[in-house]
Amino acid sequence: MSKILVTGGLGFIGSHTVVELQNEGFEVVIIDDLSNSSEKVLDGINAITGKTPVFEKLDLKEKSAVESFFKKHSDLKGVIHFAANKAVGESVKEPLMYYENNVGSLVYILKELKKLPEANFIFSSSCTVYGQADKLPITEDAAVKLAESPYGNTKQIGEEIIQDTCNAIPSIKAIALRYFNPIGAHESANIGELPLGVPQNLVPFITQTAIGLREQLSVFGDDYPTPDGTCIRDYIHVVDLAKAHVVALQRLLKGKNKKQYETFNLGTGTGSSVLEVIKSFEKVSGEKLNYKLVDRRAGDVISAYADTQKAKNELGWETKLSLDDAMASAWKWEKKVRGK
Ligand code: WQD
Repeated sequence: MSKILVTGGLGFIGSHTVVELQNEGFEVVIIDDLSNSSEKVLDGINAITGKTPVFEKLDLKEKSAVESFFKKHSDLKGVIHFAANKAVGESVKEPLMYYENNVGSLVYILKELKKLPEANFIFSSSCTVYGQADKLPITEDAAVKLAESPYGNTKQIGEEIIQDTCNAIPSIKAIALRYFNPIGAHESANIGELPLGVPQNLVPFITQTAIGLREQLSVFGDDYPTPDGTCIRDYIHVVDLAKAHVVALQRLLKGKNKKQYETFNLGTGTGSSVLEVIKSFEKVSGEKLNYKLVDRRAGDVISAYADTQKAKNELGWETKLSLDDAMASAWKWEKKVRGK
C-alpha cells in the first residue's frame, strides 16, 4: 500500500483529499501545525473511512523537523502539499508571515524530495494566479498576472520554484492544481470547512448567517458588468476537488505525465454569480437569507471560471456535483457543527 504524505491534511481541502486517498487504498500520513484546524478532524475522517491516518503535528517552517520527518518516512511514494496560510486580506497585513510559511515550507519539502530516488509532488495552487483573466473561460496557458495579494504571490512563486526544481532534478515529477472556488462538505457532514473567526469566503458566511451566527451577509457590489451586477466565480464541490488530487497523484505514480511539471485548472467550467449562489442556498435549505447589497470589495476580480478541457482530456476527470449539491452539503455541515 503506497504511503502518501498530505501536509495540511486536517484542513478543509486536505481532509477531504485524505478521505478519497484512503478510499483508493492509499496509506496516509498527515502533517499539520493545527494553526487553522483541529485534531478532531481525525475522528471525522475515521467516521467516514473507518481508518485514522497517522498524524504528526509539525511546523514545516522548522527545517530540522522536516528533515527528521522525511528520514523517518523514507518510504513515502508521494506528497500532496496543502499546508499554507490562505487568507487574502491577512496576507496584505502580514506579507512576511506568508512568504516565510508558504514559500519557506515549500523549499524545505522540495529539498527532502531531492534526496529520494523518485518523488511525486502535488501542489495546491489557485486560480488567483490568473488575476482578472483577459479571456473566459480560463485555460492553463492564460497569462499569470501580477498577484493581487501576497497570498496569491506565494502561489505564483511556489509554481516557479517547482518548475525550476523539476528543471534541475529529473527525479522529481510535479503537478500544480489551480483550484477555482472550493465549497461544500462531505455528504456525511463528518468533515467540512471550519473557518476560524469571521469567514472571509462567501459560502461559509452564507451558512453562518442562516444559522444565526452572523447578522447579515453583505454582498460586495452589484454594479459589475455581469448579468445581475454581482461577481462571477466557478464554485467547485470540495469532494470533486479532492478526487482530482487522487487522479493527479495516480497520473504521476503510473508515469502517465507528459511533462515533468504540469498544471491543471480544477473547476466546473460554469460561472455563478453571488446572487445565484444565494438563490441556490435558499432553494436547497428552504431558508430566506438576510443579505444587503454594499460597495465592492477591493481586489475582487469581476469574473473567473475554468476551461475544463485539459483536466478532462489529460486527467480523465470532471466535476460530477452541482452548485445545489454543494450548497446543500455546506448547510448540512453548518447545522451539524452548530448542533442544530
Ligand atoms: C467570492 C465572491 C466576493 C464574501 C478567494 C481567494 C482565492 C481562493 C478562493 C484560496 C466574491 C463575494 C464574499 C462576502 C461577498 N482561496 N463575497 N460577501 O475572493 O473569489 O477567492 O477564495 O485559494 O485565492 O481569493 O472567494 O468566497 O471570498 O468571494 O459578496 O461576505 O463572493 O466579493 O465576488 P474569492 P470569496
